Amino acid sequence: MDFKKTTDFIHELYGNQDFVPLSVPVFIGNEKKYLNECIDTTFVSSVGKFVDRFEDDIAKYTGCKRAVVCVSGTNALHISLMLAGVERGDEVLTQALTFIATCNALSYIGAEPVFIDVDRDTMGLSPTAVRKWLEINAEIKDNQCFNKNTRRRIKACVPMHTFGHPVHIDELTTVLNDYHIELVEDAAESIGSLYKGKHTGTFGKVGALSFNGNKTITTGGGGMMLFNDEELGAYAKHITTQAKIPHRWEFRHDHIGYNYRMPNINAALGCAQLEHIEEYVASKRETAKAYEEFFKNVPDIEFFTEPENCRSNYWLNVVILKDKDAQQEFLQFTNDNGVMTRPIWELMNRLPMFEHCQNDGLKNTTWFADRVVNIPSSVRIK
Ligand SMILES: Cc1ncc(COP(=O)(O)O)c(C=O)c1O
Repeated sequence: MDFKKTTDFIHELYGNQDFVPLSVPVFIGNEKKYLNECIDTTFVSSVGKFVDRFEDDIAKYTGCKRAVVCVSGTNALHISLMLAGVERGDEVLTQALTFIATCNALSYIGAEPVFIDVDRDTMGLSPTAVRKWLEINAEIKDNQCFNKNTRRRIKACVPMHTFGHPVHIDELTTVLNDYHIELVEDAAESIGSLYKGKHTGTFGKVGALSFNGNKTITTGGGGMMLFNDEELGAYAKHITTQAKIPHRWEFRHDHIGYNYRMPNINAALGCAQLEHIEEYVASKRETAKAYEEFFKNVPDIEFFTEPENCRSNYWLNVVILKDKDAQQEFLQFTNDNGVMTRPIWELMNRLPMFEHCQNDGLKNTTWFADRVVNIPSSVRIK
């Protein structure tokens, strides 16, 4: 197949750079000003005004009651799962089509993933597939859900809003409520993405965002937990900051805590980035529109568009090739010609740590893994 027109188009879209990366940050606002302020005042570490401000700003932006910042999205997921009541030996329903962090976080607790298929229109966890699997494998006892085969409790479900595209969260919530399963959203990739006007990550008990360098906004590294329950949020703050009882000079701790707090200097970057998020999302959506129009005229390559009733942040744009051979050919040509592209992550059920875990056959998941390629998606504002 001839992919030259595609690489030419992408080079032009990104101002004819020699090499077009997949996703890099942009700094157009108050980043330097706020970072200098941290240095000038010496508040670069675990105390400082930007930490509180970043949490408040994110809560306001996403519409949740309380946001609690962490040093990474993976940490945020770890604590989110703990606060959803997940314990050692529990099972957690999630997708095999995700980044390793989703599964690592639940493994830290000693829980085990069960991999359920994704939907073709969202690339995220399928409520229909979840219900089907639960109908066959689950039973309710004393308002808790158990796996009939393994006898383990099924405590939580972690959908992931893949590449920024929201899953069918209303339908998923209905299924999970029927089975007494907690919803914890992995919204690491979906800041700025809305489902029926509501921000992703705010539908369940807890949602987790990531601010890693390749995300829509970055703090260098970082994450955030989103809560609708203020008390639970306050508790999350406590245990992510070493569970120290507030006092001017005494050091007393009332719980096993974690040093997951984000330094002020990273939060300062986050505050500056968040001031421009709507411009970033608009730019990413414009890029997606340009791709959509372009790929309409390219045979055998389909551009993946946002699901209905959603606003996707189009964190990473996706094309779908006709089969695995075409996918490999496309990856080779684009990477040889100055355009960074990559396939989907190796599916979780194929990794040695998780290959023994239960799955439902993963028909759509495998279909995507053989065809999806991510193409350059950075914000186009300088
Ligand atoms: C789906 C998903 N979950 C979790 C994470 C973890 O975030 P972090 O890299 O901030 O730990 C990421 C991104 O890196 C991700 O893409």
